[in-house]
Amino acid sequence: MYLTPSEEKILHGEKGEVMERMFRLLVRLGEIYEADAMIPVGSVQVAGVSYKSIGDPGLEFLEDLASKGAKVQVLTYLNPAGMDLENWQELGFPEEFAHNQLRIMDAFRAMGIVVTSTCTPYLAGNLPRFREHIAWSESSAVSFANSVIGARTNREGGPSALAAAICGKTPNYGLHRWENRQPSVHIKVEAPLEFSSDFGALGYYVGKQVKNKIPYFSGIPSATTDQLKALGAAMAASGAVALYHVDQLTPEADLVETQDLETMTITEKDIKETYTTLKQGEHPDIVILGCPHASLREIAQVAEKVQGKTLKKPLWICTSRMMKEAADRMGFTKTIEQAGGHIVADTCMVVSPIEQMGYKVTGVNSGKAANYLPGFCKQTVVFANIDELVEGQT
Ligand code: F3S
Repeated sequence: MYLTPSEEKILHGEKGEVMERMFRLLVRLGEIYEADAMIPVGSVQVAGVSYKSIGDPGLEFLEDLASKGAKVQVLTYLNPAGMDLENWQELGFPEEFAHNQLRIMDAFRAMGIVVTSTCTPYLAGNLPRFREHIAWSESSAVSFANSVIGARTNREGGPSALAAAICGKTPNYGLHRWENRQPSVHIKVEAPLEFSSDFGALGYYVGKQVKNKIPYFSGIPSATTDQLKALGAAMAASGAVALYHVDQLTPEADLVETQDLETMTITEKDIKETYTTLKQGEHPDIVILGCPHASLREIAQVAEKVQGKTLKKPLWICTSRMMKEAADRMGFTKTIEQAGGHIVADTCMVVSPIEQMGYKVTGVNSGKAANYLPGFCKQTVVFANIDELVEGQT
């Protein structure tokens, strides 16, 4: 891999120990994946934020890095933390867990990282442009940035994203290169799609079938950005899909080569069967929406559904702190709280310790959450559309 003279100097320790260590990690990664050079990144999103995921070893690593003066060079956001960073007590998060989570946030803050924790950074002030190179970590954010925005990122691990943030660069390989963004399978959708959960079910089903490939969808006449984020998140979860194209809807769809692709047809029956597969129980003891983190439009939709009603079971809507602020101002938070629900910021159902909080059966409308909740949080999942989940609880 070609390194510039100033990059060589970093490797020889001329910019200090932390930079040398981080840059060495990036060079090693570049060598493994046969990158030709380093490229600057416009922004970074770092995963490995929840104390539940990284534990004491992760906490100590971050505190050590911060104490050695590590500083990020580009706009850097964080993936969801393990709790609402402001309302954790009220929501019943365990005290010791909270103490450790706050230490993690302090370490990130000391490095100059924006301590807002979300998997939808593009809705919260970190919006890349078309073809911008970035280094993001969380799989649904990676999918959205690559597919819906047309920015370019591989799915970074926690350490490689942190290294990219500190060095401002990433090795040029994988999805940073145009030749690797071509589709390898054509998905013809013949099923009607209405709810975001329909897009989640489609994504879950396709991800399982195509594993790691780049799908090109046709037959989806329209979709909101919320629905595309649901589709991408579920495919990333079930099949590690980091990029997809949708005819007429995503920015690179007109530019890629679609001749002679292997073809797969998705029918209404496939979607219905996916709902059946993912619905493991009947009666959730909590409903959690906002995977990926809810947009203001999704929060407004829930507020409208619960207005003037009383929920029988707890309802959380996970989102970024920025969306929650906007929801507060619009009165959506108050409406949802009056019905007995909560808007929970900075965290989500998968990275927070819900199993320690007494919940066993969780209702979700997200294919991604349905994929992870049984393993990560020991939950029985009730996968359904928003009407069944919310209106069924009032
Ligand atoms: Fe985001 Fe958590 Fe879902 S990180 S994509 S809300 S599992």
